[in-house]
Amino acid sequence: MDIDINDKEFGLFQRLIYNESGINLTPAKKELLKSRLMKRLRGRSLTSFKEYYQYVTEEDTTGEELVSMLDCISTNLTEFFREAAHFDYLSEKVLPVVMENKRKKQEKKIRIWCAGCSTGEEPYSIAIILAECIERLCDLDIKILATDLSTRVLKKATQGRYSKDRLKGIPLQILNTYFEKETCNFKEHYQIKDFLRNMIVFRRLNLTDATFPFKGQFDFIFCRNVMIYFDKQTQTELVNKFYKHLASDGHLFIGHSESLASTDSKFRYVQPTVYQK
Ligand SMILES: C[S@@+](CC[C@H](N)C(=O)[O-])C[C@H]1O[C@@H](n2cnc3c(N)ncnc32)[C@H](O)[C@@H]1O
Repeated sequence: MDIDINDKEFGLFQRLIYNESGINLTPAKKELLKSRLMKRLRGRSLTSFKEYYQYVTEEDTTGEELVSMLDCISTNLTEFFREAAHFDYLSEKVLPVVMENKRKKQEKKIRIWCAGCSTGEEPYSIAIILAECIERLCDLDIKILATDLSTRVLKKATQGRYSKDRLKGIPLQILNTYFEKETCNFKEHYQIKDFLRNMIVFRRLNLTDATFPFKGQFDFIFCRNVMIYFDKQTQTELVNKFYKHLASDGHLFIGHSESLASTDSKFRYVQPTVYQK
């Protein structure tokens, strides 16, 4: 049975989703919203979007349905070494300077934040670059904080297990060094090795929260292909929070179709999609 969503119902969800996640659904996304939420309605045997809205906002006092609803709404497209130029920039320009500064200050701590990490390909790519560039990883205290709004993607990310088709184009040397090959029901899977997985902490975090619970500052931040779903005001607020939580001279990497040009921030432009505090 198909259930239609009228403009009034769409407006209710539009506001709820904006308030809870910053995701800005334009009227053109009405059919997308409908198709993504349909299985939530069916799962609860509900016959209208109005009933589902009431369930999410009033009847479900646990807040769990809201989390599941946001899981359905978010777009989680990602891949290993997506936007490869960023990883070259990281290994050639950022890491040598970070390492030299740490050496001078005799500091062992390196802190990285991957915000909007989806199913984990991005933070694992960062971890691989660190492992490739830093000779004695074990002498350092490296942590990558990888956060997302969606609990569904975080579960997958924490497992660190990917089917062969997710790893297309990754050089064999990288596969052999950082993944364990497993065969199950004639299908090949690749499991991220523990030493790499242990560098990453996965957490649920909403980037539209007014404040973030971090004490220290990050050496660099990746937040790519997330702000594209936010309006200008939400983008500006987020970018200013990134600024606050970055160490001086720390870099911010954003997605290929994003820019800080129209946000009001103190970041210095380095090159398209790369900024510095
Ligand atoms: C398109 S994916 C980008 C993944 C990865 N950064 C990349 O570029 O490959 C966008 C991610 O942002 C997350 N996201 C959307 N709104 C968010 C919010 N308010 N707080 C945290 N994460 C959010 C989504 O759940 C999704 O996993």
